[in-house]
Amino acid sequence: MPPDAASGWALREIDSVTSTNDAVADWPPWTALLAERQTSGRGRHNRVWVSDRGGLWLSAVVPIGSPDRGWSALPLAVGLAVCETLSACGAPALRLRWPNDVLSGPRKLAGLLVDCFRPGVAVVGIGVNVHNRPDRLDPALADTVVRLADLVDRPPPLAELARSLLQAIASIVRTLEREGFARIASRLDRWWRTGLGVEIEIDRSRLNGFFEGVDAEGRLRVRTLDGETRFFGAHQVTRLRESQGTDSHDQGT
Ligand code: BTN
Repeated sequence: MPPDAASGWALREIDSVTSTNDAVADWPPWTALLAERQTSGRGRHNRVWVSDRGGLWLSAVVPIGSPDRGWSALPLAVGLAVCETLSACGAPALRLRWPNDVLSGPRKLAGLLVDCFRPGVAVVGIGVNVHNRPDRLDPALADTVVRLADLVDRPPPLAELARSLLQAIASIVRTLEREGFARIASRLDRWWRTGLGVEIEIDRSRLNGFFEGVDAEGRLRVRTLDGETRFFGAHQVTRLRESQGTDSHDQGT
């Protein structure tokens, strides 16, 4: 699988796989896999990710540096790359729900799962609902999910969308490498909906407050009901629910 000279990525396309993230676990950096369907697609926190035909199921292997250069914020950075790419396709009312769900209004369009199977390398998994019908496999998703085909007249072909996403990922990875996360944090600001009421789960306890975006290190900022601003690393928070109108349900959420 030779790399594409222009993009630097070597992209392989297959019909069916358990999970693209698992399939590329030992692939080298700058390789990627696009599947037409996944039989055991995984979401965050070990949830099932419905991955029927017509959706984009992509995993990209990227090299990563040390946490002090902001690499622990890679999942946030990739959320930005996905949001900007889908916005360039014409998807309206896009926003990010912390840490990296891509929503159009209240409904989830795309989800990301970043795995680290070995040191120095991360697998970035991206699922985008395009023409697929996840609600047919799980009717509970009917009210929470949206597809690119519902939002734009002519979604790009899946392989073309995959290439655009890979280009955006390469660019954001290079920005992280050269400039650290602070630069990306300011670009992220326009995609968050700050001020929303949220409930977060931390070590089985719950905290209510208002979402205030992320700080320059990528930590979640929450203003508590007492008016105090608190910061949480992504590893501390098992779930964030928006209390107004949206639910963080997988393909799941
Ligand atoms: C989430 O929102 O919970 C994350 C969903 C991530 C889904 C993608 S689809 C491609 C890759 N392979 C997987 O098994 N999961 C990710």
